[in-house]
Amino acid sequence: MCGIVGYTGPREAFDILIEGLKKLEYRGYDSAGLALQDGDRIRVVKAAGSIAALEKRVRGQIKPLQVGLGHTRWATHGRPTDENAHPHLSCCGNFAVVHNGIIENYSALRDWLRDEKGHVFRSETDTEVLAHLLEEFYAGDLLEALRRTAEIVEGSYAMAALSAHEPGRLVCARKDSPLIIGLGEGENYIASDITALLSHTRRAYILEDGEFASVTAEEVKISRAGGEILQKEVFTVKWDAVAAEKGGYNHFMLKEIMEQPTAVRETLRQRIDTAAGRVNLNELNFAPEELCALEKIYIIACGTAYHAGLVGKYAIEKLAGLPVEVDLASEFRYREPILLKQKHLVITVSQSGETADTLAALRLARRKGVRVLAVTNVVGSSVAREADEVLYTRAGPEIAVASTKAYLTQLIALYLVALYLGDLRKALPSEEAARLVRDLDRLPGLLKQILAEERLSELRAYADRLARWENAFFLGRNLDYAVAMEGSLKLKEISYIHAEAYAAGELKHGPLALITEGIPVIVLATQESILDKTLSNIQEVNARGGAVFAVIPEGRGEIARQVEGAFYLPPVKDLLAPVLSAVPLQLIAYYAAVARGCSVDKPRNLAKSVTVE
Ligand code: G6P
Repeated sequence: MCGIVGYTGPREAFDILIEGLKKLEYRGYDSAGLALQDGDRIRVVKAAGSIAALEKRVRGQIKPLQVGLGHTRWATHGRPTDENAHPHLSCCGNFAVVHNGIIENYSALRDWLRDEKGHVFRSETDTEVLAHLLEEFYAGDLLEALRRTAEIVEGSYAMAALSAHEPGRLVCARKDSPLIIGLGEGENYIASDITALLSHTRRAYILEDGEFASVTAEEVKISRAGGEILQKEVFTVKWDAVAAEKGGYNHFMLKEIMEQPTAVRETLRQRIDTAAGRVNLNELNFAPEELCALEKIYIIACGTAYHAGLVGKYAIEKLAGLPVEVDLASEFRYREPILLKQKHLVITVSQSGETADTLAALRLARRKGVRVLAVTNVVGSSVAREADEVLYTRAGPEIAVASTKAYLTQLIALYLVALYLGDLRKALPSEEAARLVRDLDRLPGLLKQILAEERLSELRAYADRLARWENAFFLGRNLDYAVAMEGSLKLKEISYIHAEAYAAGELKHGPLALITEGIPVIVLATQESILDKTLSNIQEVNARGGAVFAVIPEGRGEIARQVEGAFYLPPVKDLLAPVLSAVPLQLIAYYAAVARGCSVDKPRNLAKSVTVE
């Protein structure tokens, strides 16, 4: 999730690029940079930090130049440093590249370029190989060099390049990462997102996977890999700037909910091998003996990340046969936990990687000599830097305070850890592991089914009714209880409806006294193995007049008939059901908050990142 902007025309590129990058900042930023054509050379300015900081540093320092590329980075490979910021230059300095996405085979390409072709690398990024490949393949036509580059790179990309050899020309290509060409009068643009261009143009070509573009001030040519020129329709943007930032959605939260199939796919990318039926976490440098010797794991986190940890506990205990304790970081750090070197492992889960309590818990564990694995979404964050090993969720920047896509990717990361440990510790039969790996791979597709428009209207209708109440209950057993806790947090944090989650078996131990006529009770009943038990709880609520909305497996119409409303989940293994069942709860909370006129993305009194105790 980075941002790209490019300009070629008669105006000063610096202002256009900086302004465009600022519009893309919501996509995440930890560093930024520009490449400008200056006669027969390319000038690159780039730095870790904000776009405003870069602007301040550079403004007035370079003469007016008319062609350039800009990039705002959200690190995925390599920490956010000056060297790792884009654009990247080739050895001779005549080719500059910006890129969004992940070049999966970059390591092999880098070895080849360095060892056999003598290229010198300056950064730790996957992107830098693109600049060197352009230099390697250049034979008088930059677009041709880009085509040859695209032929050998694997992964996802929106990439754009310029060369000192071809003044006035930008070239670009895409695969699995958005890119558009903005059309002006005697000037043209490139951007990863229309938001960057709205103050200049509303007319654009949308590049599709496998398409290449050559862009000069006078002309835009779009072609396929084989060179065939395409006549594309011009797309006219109707959104205003604010809507464009949110991808046309009214709120970042809804946009982020909709991004979940991609976020899950990205988090799984290269970490599962469906053919071999195995998980591959080579990025973790724990010694196998170390993990085999473990006797216990602590999962430590706050807020939504804590709820992800509760699911992680079930997964690790089931698949790896290791006891897991899940703790709120703010409790753990002050309760003198028993931490045994070599016998225990601490897993911290944190979207931001900056939560003060989580960081303090991590430091406590390390002081006691216990190794720490961080699951986090932000490369180079404090938690990532201080942990022994890091497993990144690849959700992309999450802007809404209420966490959605980060939660789902945290679940995925913890399933991966569970499978990895299960395999290593020989606790999991390989056929079962293979089945689960294949089921993980199906999750993005199943999420898309849940997010189909007609499914959303069912939830919106229910949320409209729920929005009239001041109290609600969430019930579930085992994994459903963990998800119930997350659903209840989502509802209260953004709609301000008081919500409580209970283990369904606890109903008789108190909460039943609060069930009165019509009160909303959302029941998670996705765990086939204990469905009957949860059904009895539904009857208990019904008998007291409570209005049950149930999340149930497809094909269980008999349950739907016993409740006021139901949402069917596509078939999935019990263990993986939380990835799907959390989504209707996120949407119920979202639509209820909208119905109540709440500030969805920035709920009162709450912050996205809690960096103080
Ligand atoms: C805040 C946010 C939550 C988040 C929690 C933990 O409360 O509003 O959405 O779950 O912090 O944040 P972390 O960045 O550590 O996951």
